[in-house]
Amino acid sequence: MSTEKTGSGTIGTARLGADGPEVGVQGLGCMGMSFAYGPTDADEARATLERALELGVTLYDTADMYGFGENERFIAPFVRAHRDEVVVATKFGIVMDPADPLRRGIRNDAPYLRQCVEGSLERLGVDTIDLYYMHRRDVNVPIEETVGAMAELVAEGKVRWLGLSEVTGDELRAAHAVHPIAALQSEWSVFSRDVERTAVPAARELGVAFVPYSPLGRGFLTGAFTDAGKELTEDDFRRTMPRFTGENAAANAALLEPLRAIARAHGATPGQIALAWVHRQASVHGLEVVPIPGTRRRSRVEENTAATRIELTEEELAALEPIASEVVGGRYADMGFTSAGRE
Ligand SMILES: NC(=O)c1ccc[n+]([C@@H]2O[C@H](COP(=O)([O-])OP(=O)(O)OC[C@H]3O[C@@H](n4cnc5c(N)ncnc54)[C@H](OP(=O)(O)O)[C@@H]3O)[C@@H](O)[C@H]2O)c1
Repeated sequence: MSTEKTGSGTIGTARLGADGPEVGVQGLGCMGMSFAYGPTDADEARATLERALELGVTLYDTADMYGFGENERFIAPFVRAHRDEVVVATKFGIVMDPADPLRRGIRNDAPYLRQCVEGSLERLGVDTIDLYYMHRRDVNVPIEETVGAMAELVAEGKVRWLGLSEVTGDELRAAHAVHPIAALQSEWSVFSRDVERTAVPAARELGVAFVPYSPLGRGFLTGAFTDAGKELTEDDFRRTMPRFTGENAAANAALLEPLRAIARAHGATPGQIALAWVHRQASVHGLEVVPIPGTRRRSRVEENTAATRIELTEEELAALEPIASEVVGGRYADMGFTSAGRE
């Protein structure tokens, strides 16, 4: 059993899909460096990218909509400086309204995809995007059509591997029949487990790697929030999420006691136990799992990668089991935005 709270050891690796890249078993979510979670110290965020790479993190996650392209621009110098060492993942499909960034639409049609890929290539300043995800499913476009158009990008060398985000098990099967899907990226954590119904079994069956986003519950599982409404800045996206607000946040904070107790036993933090739980799902479900915790701070990337070395016992897993079913409030205000909304 590891009791290491922080550390400088490098992490293990995992493969994304049968023909995909081998990456560090924990990636880095870059979204918060430019978007969604309040003000950022750009110098510290840049140093965090470098520190992550030293620790064996090679999968870096962004999307075209994070800050209207700003996040891709922000990580571009780092990606270019380490082009052969890092796997850069970006996404298309969510359309934001510049007048009101909280209003969002979804587009999966081929002309829109074309426009998006060119924009991401330009902002990242690369010839090829390593992993290109469809960010959300537009139910007005058959998924076979979208993945067919994405496969053309692979044939043209604009993209290396394909991924999908927030699709159901059946949608993943339909997509994978058109072109191999390397990774499915959806929310998966101690307190968001709806993906275990259809997406996880389908990913296992097809040999698709699972990339859990928000594995720290958008920070909630670190124990940082007791009264989220007060703790979040005005522009923080989490203010729109039912489980973060008012009475729900207080009720959900009380659910974290088992995480805290297990953390004390390991000399670890609650966030590390939450990450150890996600990593453990690889052996529980029999598939590759590469979570992408998001942070803008070096000390936290050290803490998060050290969590890959924490082994949870069966008793500890059992103690964490009830949390997800007791959480109050949805993970999005509009669950139609998630795979669970279509199951
Ligand atoms: N496909 C999708 O639809 C989708 C949706 C959401 C996110 N994502 C991707 O997934 C990545 C991760 O998800 P996320 O950022 O939403 O949630 P997360 O990784 O669960 O949590 C991130 C939050 O936790 C804080 N944090 C990180 N490490 C910490 C630590 N050791 N101790 C205390 N606090 C810590 C971060 O703050 P600091 O930054 O200040 O450390 C941030 O507020 C994103 O960056 C993005 O790339 C994808």
